[in-house]
Amino acid sequence: MAGLTSSSIGRKYAMALSAMFLLIFLIMHLSVNLLSVISKDAFNSASEFMGYNPFIQFLMQPILGFAVIFHFAMGFILEIKNNNSRPIKYRMNNRSSNSTWMSRNMLLSGVVVLAFLGLHMYDFWWHEMDYKYVVGSVRDEARYWPELHAQFGNVGRVIFYVVAFVLLGLHLAHGFQSSFQSIGARHPKYTPMIKAVGTWYSILIPAGFILVAVFHYVTQ
Ligand code: HEM
Repeated sequence: MAGLTSSSIGRKYAMALSAMFLLIFLIMHLSVNLLSVISKDAFNSASEFMGYNPFIQFLMQPILGFAVIFHFAMGFILEIKNNNSRPIKYRMNNRSSNSTWMSRNMLLSGVVVLAFLGLHMYDFWWHEMDYKYVVGSVRDEARYWPELHAQFGNVGRVIFYVVAFVLLGLHLAHGFQSSFQSIGARHPKYTPMIKAVGTWYSILIPAGFILVAVFHYVTQ
């Protein structure tokens, strides 16, 4: 791991691997959340399974926590190193002609998503840990859907979540294809396909999360 993060190529590689893990996590997370729109019982069963399965709780959850922290910390480190190694800043270039807004503002969109995650962990994860391990409340499979639904009764929270999902989409629009480039997956035939999948991914995943948040708000 130290070898992977000590060279700039290694750091980009490690960053890309953590990004790919998070891309898969987002698909799984959205799939469970969409169940809350379709069926209360299905969402409750899936949440109970995720919440008490030892493989998820004691292996995947710590790995996820590590991947999230690693991804954000490495993002800051790469940004600082890139800025320091650029003797003449982009001032001399017409930046918008050779890069997209998304690629130039990965730090900004990342910070908004990080702020969202702070609130999100407080809303759901913190409550979960308190419920299970501090208070030691009894298992109740029917509680997940009403708890989730109640969180979206506050319009301010819904607006903040939706803004964060839009910024998440912009972050993914560049991040998806960039992670493939960083691991060296570049090919005249496959790169356009990776870019197209990345574009659809960065639209559909945030749109799905927005649907869940707005659904629970309008059905209060
Ligand atoms: C409307 C959208 C969303 C809803 C309703 C939602 C719901 C939830 C819920 C209920 C949990 C608690 C899981 C548990 O029992 O521990 C959770 C955890 C989590 N969510 Fe979300 N989420 C949403 C969007 C997102 C997004 C966009 C991200 C990432 C950018 C995200 C990242 C996480 C993470 C990292 C956890 C902790 C995972 C864990 O507990 O294992 N969520 N979310």
